[in-house]
Amino acid sequence: MAEQDASNDSGANGRPLAERVATRIFYPTSRPREKALHEAVSGAVILVTGASHGIGKAAAKKLGAAGATMLLVARSREDLDAVAEEIRAAGGVAHVYASDITDFDAVAELGQGLLAEHGRVDVVVNNAGHSIRRPIDESYDRFHDFTRTMDVNYLGPVRLLLTLLPGMRERGSGHIVNISTWGLRMPPAPRWSAYGASKGAFDIWLRTVATEIAADGVTTTSVYMPLVHTRMSAPTDFSGVPGLTADEAADLICHAVVARPLEISPWWTGPVQAFADLRRGAAQRFMERGLGRR
Ligand SMILES: NC(=O)c1ccc[n+]([C@@H]2O[C@H](COP(=O)([O-])OP(=O)(O)OC[C@H]3O[C@@H](n4cnc5c(N)ncnc54)[C@H](OP(=O)(O)O)[C@@H]3O)[C@@H](O)[C@H]2O)c1
Repeated sequence: MAEQDASNDSGANGRPLAERVATRIFYPTSRPREKALHEAVSGAVILVTGASHGIGKAAAKKLGAAGATMLLVARSREDLDAVAEEIRAAGGVAHVYASDITDFDAVAELGQGLLAEHGRVDVVVNNAGHSIRRPIDESYDRFHDFTRTMDVNYLGPVRLLLTLLPGMRERGSGHIVNISTWGLRMPPAPRWSAYGASKGAFDIWLRTVATEIAADGVTTTSVYMPLVHTRMSAPTDFSGVPGLTADEAADLICHAVVARPLEISPWWTGPVQAFADLRRGAAQRFMERGLGRR
């Protein structure tokens, strides 16, 4: 099951050549030029949730090195302190806020506290997440799998943004980058019901809110991230599936912050989604017969 473990945090840098080539073909990444990234984030206040490990950690380090004031949120204070120390050692500015995003009252206080301390938050990278891969017949006595994924992946981020959105709209600027999953651009895959539903809930929430806040100058980017080699994906057998390193995933986040596209998704997910919409039965059968047995 894809419960987290502490291994393989920084990504598979020693990937075989075939995987690196497949990654280039299937998930070409966009890395902004150093100058463009520096111009976009220098002096900006950027909040990254889930900055203690994996994708969030890699993104925080890149954005911090480019001149942003980094606000780092996750539960593990020691790991956040280590990330902040790395950012400061490279000449950047970083502040640590150890917080559990599922503690909704604490999250609301955190948001208000950040505004009081820094005056504003220019960019929010909503990255903290929890993944569970478990078949439904092993979930009958595990209702908490569904509540905890909703808490981390949906309700906590909503609670945080409800405190930060008013200031962004008043100032007429702000950007929210959501680290979503490629799974939402494909037919639902077996065993991912808890994770997929919770990531889908936030995806729909943000895209709905985006239609209301655009007029006030607040933009959103949904990053439908493919497989990334982190401690989150490590426990699941993805053999044969090429994946990004956390560093490459962080480049996508930097690209999102600079270019502010509505979405970033592997190029082939558009046609796959169109096919799945047009031929829903065929797509469902593929998932039942193909992936259902894995
Ligand atoms: N890895 C992939 O293949 C993949 C693919 C698509 C999308 N994604 C998405 O990418 C994001 C980052 O995943 P990752 O692969 O980098 O995983 P990761 O290495 O396990 O990092 C997850 C981060 O979320 C934080 N977090 C988890 N629960 C939290 C909570 N209750 N409160 C505050 N922070 C919490 C963790 O910090 P603490 O444990 O210190 O709290 C950690 O910093 C997730 O949203 C995930 O859904 C990942």
